[in-house]
This record gives sequence, C-alpha cells and structure tokens, in this order.
Amino acid sequence: MIMYNNSNENFSAYTLITKKRDGHKLTKNEIKWFIDGFTAGDIPDYQMASFLMAIYLMDMDAAETAALTDAMLYSGDVLDFNDQTVIDKHSTGGVGDKTSFILAPIAAAVGVKVPMIAGRGLGHTGGTVDKIESIENFNTSLSMSDFKRLLYESGIVLIGQTGEIAPADKKIYALRDVTATIESIPLITGSIMSKKLAEGTSGIVMDIKCGSGAFMKTKTRARALAKSLSNTALRFNKNMITMITDMSQPLGFAVGNSLEIIECVETLKGNGPKDLTKLCLELAGGMIYLAGLAKTHDIGIKKAKATLKDGTALSKFRELIKTHGGDPAYVDDYSHFNVATKKTQIISDNDGHVHSIDGVKIGLQCVELGGGRKKAEDNIDFAVGFIIHKKIGDRVKKGEAIATIHHHKHQQPIADKMIKIFNNDIYKIKKGKPKKLPELIYETKINWSK
Ligand code: URA
Repeated sequence: MIMYNNSNENFSAYTLITKKRDGHKLTKNEIKWFIDGFTAGDIPDYQMASFLMAIYLMDMDAAETAALTDAMLYSGDVLDFNDQTVIDKHSTGGVGDKTSFILAPIAAAVGVKVPMIAGRGLGHTGGTVDKIESIENFNTSLSMSDFKRLLYESGIVLIGQTGEIAPADKKIYALRDVTATIESIPLITGSIMSKKLAEGTSGIVMDIKCGSGAFMKTKTRARALAKSLSNTALRFNKNMITMITDMSQPLGFAVGNSLEIIECVETLKGNGPKDLTKLCLELAGGMIYLAGLAKTHDIGIKKAKATLKDGTALSKFRELIKTHGGDPAYVDDYSHFNVATKKTQIISDNDGHVHSIDGVKIGLQCVELGGGRKKAEDNIDFAVGFIIHKKIGDRVKKGEAIATIHHHKHQQPIADKMIKIFNNDIYKIKKGKPKKLPELIYETKINWSK
C-alpha cells in the first residue's frame, strides 16, 4: 500500500522497513510519516514491530535519532512553563530503582518545581506509576489543568503517560516491551526525550543505569546513551546533567511495589540504605543546581541533605499523597500497605563472599510473583517482592539468609523454586572478596545549553 505525505513523496511502511532493514539512513520526512501513521492507527502493530526491530538491529545516526525524537515529541501537546525552576529527573530504569519518590520531595522542599510524567513497568524493571499506586486511591490520571495547578501550588506532581503528552511514545513503549526492542539507543532516546521535552522543563537530571540489572550493560553503551540524550537536550536548549550510575545489583534492599515505597519513606525519615540515600542526594542536588537554587552541585547536595534532617522532604511526600487523593497516614503506619505476610527465606547453599547478583533475573522473579506484567493487560500485585540481605562484597555463611521473599500462601511452590534460582543463577558466592566493588556513581557530566 503506497501512501503519500504532504510533500507528495511516495512512502509505504513496507519500503521504509526494507530500507532500514538493509542498513540505509531514513530521512526526516520518512521517520515522521511512519511515527504519525502509527500514532493515528493507520500503520498496524505488526509493521511497527518490524520497523522497531530494524532500528534495533541497524541503529540510527544522530540526525535520524533527532528526527525520531521530534516526530514523537510533536505527536501530542508540548507544555511550556517558561520557568527556570521547573526541573525533572529521569532514570533509564533498573531493579529496585525507586529514587523518584525520594529525590522529588527533596528537590521540591528546596523550591524546585518537579513535574513527573512517569511510566509503568517495562521489561524486568518496575514502573514509577505502578509503585506509587501501592498507596490506595493515589490518582496518577490527573487532568492537564490539575497537573499544572499542582505543580505551582505544591511544587511536586506525578502522573502517568497521558494521551496528550507524547502519545506516540505510549503506543511504541508498549510494543517495544513485548518485541525485545527495548535496549536500543535511538529508541530509548526518542522515548525519554519526547516525554521530557513535552513536559516543558528547563533542565533534566538523567540517571543512566549501567550494569547487569540495566538496559545498558556496559559503560561504553551507557556513555553512548548519555551522549545521545544530552545532544538531544542541547538541541532543544535544555540543560542536562547526565549521571552514569551502578545497576550491577538492586538499589537499596527492597524489590516490589509496596516494599519499595516503604523503603522510600524510611529513606525520607533518614533511615534509608546508604546507596539509595547517597544516590538520591546526588540526583536531587543536581536538580537544585540546575534550578539555580545552588551555586554548585555540591551546595545543591548540602541543601538536599538538610531536607532529610529537618523533615521537610517527608512533609512534601505526605503532601504529594494528599494532593493525589491518597491517605498520608501510610507514611506513619506501614500496616496500610498491602504487603504479603507469608515470608520464605532464601538460605545460602554456599560459604564465601557475594561476587555478583543478576538484577535482571531478580526483576523477572518479581514479575513471576505478579509484581510486574507479563502482558500489557495484566494487573499488578503490590504485595509481593523481595528484601535483599546480602549485596556484592558481603560475607555469607552457608545456612545464612541472602534474601526474603514476600509472597502469598498459594505461591509457596513458586517461592520454593526461587530458593534454587537465587542460589544457582542469581547470586555468585565464591571464596575470597571480589577484587573490585561496584562504584555507586561512575561519572557525572553537566551540559549547559548556553
Ligand atoms: N525509560 C523510558 O522512558 N523509555 C525507555 O525506552 C527506557 C527507559
């Protein structure tokens, strides 16, 4: 089927898929035509799936990536706050990655305006929207006018992807999740930047996860993604801090929706795991710096720390729950959360030190329990998940618990199987300490647009 665009060029989905499959560069018009056609429902899922796989395999250069981002960005509304203090953060996603719920209240407590338009779970990684919905009645589907109002009244607002903001990404994201086309630098760049640019922020802190639990497994790939994202930000006159951070093991100790939100509240109370607390302070410090509320990144970090000490970050989190229709009592009494009370300990078969943890497999085991989706229409079980007791470098004695599974009674056979999976496939426990422990933050780059 040949179709025409408004410059009267002949395009068909078939020829454009073939062109990319054979390693040729696509023009701006061709990319725009494909994205517009898919968003409007004129190009079916199976042709888009094939197009995505061709991009995944043959890659796109900087000009194609820019055209893809533009097409996805202008598939919907583009907000413009014209306000230097509107700053967001985005993570490329990882296991146990829950930083948004901590750093956003911290930054908002200092005076940054944080408009979060977040996603649901993708692949083995959990989603921000799924996690916060473990607080009953928390409404992530606010109207655009409520979104803007809350941003200015409260400084913090969190909604899911809407049909109005980057609708192309909403459709493409869901298809990538089930067609093994997630780990592509141009596709990730288009997906993230179309949403972030449409949000109308003046600056973005980008947390690029690197390691076994991340989409980018190596520093080389993470650096290439950082460059692609910052190039796109600069083209749109947005300031961006890119941080490449470790995801060779889950962040913090909790994996699973309710368990992760409880860990976030503990962190806001100053009792959080060291790695999670430090990363949140660095990211929030970057947001405060980009907003012009601190002269340097280090001063931003100091201001961030102060909000944990004086309780203002925790108050902002309470406010976030309240303004979205939830009950702030969750913060004081964790029995409000739906957490599976049946616990099975994963006892180590081995003696030694933890050398590696396969984060992707932990994420997939959480999906197996129902904590994530196998199909787009699946419901999330907020109650299930894991508490990790041993991280890389820790000493483990045979017979000691390396993690605890929270599950339902009828899931006991699944939990019993997981004991073997954790021992044989997820944890590598060997004699002697590992030569090198993972660093939490590998590199930070500040990219000013002018
Ligand atoms: N986060 C996104 O928003 N999109 C991706 O493609 C990957 C992570």
